[in-house]
Amino acid sequence: MEHLEIDSMSQAFSEGDASATPSRKVFVKTYGCQMNVYDSQRMTDALAADGYVATEAMEEADLVLLNTCHIREKAAEKVYSELGRIREIKRERERTGAEMLIGVTGCVAQAEGREIIRRAPVVDLVIGPQTYHRLPDALRKARVGEKTVDTDYAVEDKFEHLPQPKSAEIARRGVTAFLSVQEGCDKFCTFCVVPYTRGAEVSRPVSQILAEAERLVAAGMREITLLGQNVNAWRAEGPDGKDWGLGRLLFRLADIPGLARLRYTTSHPRDMDDELIAAHRDLCSLMPYLHLPVQAGSDRILKAMNRRHKAADYLALIERIRTARPDIAMSGDFIVGFPGETDEDFEATLNIVREVGYAQAFSFKYSPRPGTPGAEMKDHVPETLKDERLQRLQALLAEQQHAFTQSRVGMRFDVLIDKPGRRAGQKAGRSPWLQPVIIDERAGEIGDIIPVRITRTEASTLFAETL
Ligand code: 5AD
Ligand code: SF4
Repeated sequence: MEHLEIDSMSQAFSEGDASATPSRKVFVKTYGCQMNVYDSQRMTDALAADGYVATEAMEEADLVLLNTCHIREKAAEKVYSELGRIREIKRERERTGAEMLIGVTGCVAQAEGREIIRRAPVVDLVIGPQTYHRLPDALRKARVGEKTVDTDYAVEDKFEHLPQPKSAEIARRGVTAFLSVQEGCDKFCTFCVVPYTRGAEVSRPVSQILAEAERLVAAGMREITLLGQNVNAWRAEGPDGKDWGLGRLLFRLADIPGLARLRYTTSHPRDMDDELIAAHRDLCSLMPYLHLPVQAGSDRILKAMNRRHKAADYLALIERIRTARPDIAMSGDFIVGFPGETDEDFEATLNIVREVGYAQAFSFKYSPRPGTPGAEMKDHVPETLKDERLQRLQALLAEQQHAFTQSRVGMRFDVLIDKPGRRAGQKAGRSPWLQPVIIDERAGEIGDIIPVRITRTEASTLFAETL
């Protein structure tokens, strides 16, 4: 799935509006991509209406939800080891007479369904990514001892029923937000489980997207990142009755007063059309950063991966994008050790990286996923060779990232202040290219966009003085 990989992280949500019922506590742990981060928040919203407030301490939770990722074997296995740990915590809690329900959601839930309860009987509910609005229902059943496995989906239903937070709640979540516009994938790259776990590509209707964006901005959001497994495959009928693509949608969103910054992730090279490139040229609120995974540099491997383009097509595309928006920072995903990958193929990956020059990138060892064509292929690459290639690739990518960060020193640009700094006297923000920027806390308020000059760097963090 073409998205940034976030390390498994526990989601700390600020407290929802407790209703009249005595409040129960929910602990949500999110694995994987930003779509899961977004979904975790929607689940918390759905549960808030049911009287649940979020907690960061699993020990005090009446409900534990693991929102899971199935993209690589390691990600999926983590869930089972976490469930083992949770079982012990639940036992402790039950000793004090308190309840603890356990739910597995997300892509492992979708892929493994009932098997999860067989392997981990402690689990009370298994819910796939499209049916989170039915969560309160499943909980009522769980409380009377009835287990739920709900993985039947129509993604249109999900968009239809997306729980929405109250404005006051949005305001507590900072000044940057995700907004889901598209789900699923029809590309069927041969390594990837996403077309199976998230289903076919579905685009959210324009009216719903605009309504959510306007609500977010009214609640104080300054930056919105549009999300989709294949976000640039988004297509829907516009209010003018015409067929809109993502480019058109971005032009429309850029008209919302107060919405200062737009981003989108994650994209497939085959869906970068002219209007989307024009949006990068014409919209100053569309940030100059593009996550555009290529996965590999060898045409033979690209073909085996079913990426349906050649290395040269990708390079030509980047050339066009850079002509439209010269300061754009490129980001990507790479897989090493796909079945049949030779030394020469791997060199081609290093070469494409050298040609593009990435500001940031994510790279992974190929992990065979059950049910995908890749898993059935011959000539799997030995693990030690995968390790070696990953190390070489990551060294090159780290060098490029370092060069990009360094090249910001002395530059002047606008920073969106988005949170207090870690140290006293500091505030933190984001550069147009997504790097964290540290400034003096008196430089402005959270939500302000202020001009700065970069004075130095520390790893990938920029330090700035105000102008
Ligand atoms: N093995 C390794 N990496 C994978 N990805 C997707 N499927 C696999 C797999 N089976 C990577 C791709 C994708 C990113 C989110 O995860 O690079 O873009
Ligand atoms: Fe997976 Fe390929 Fe679809 Fe991305 S485009 S989600 S890598 S199948």
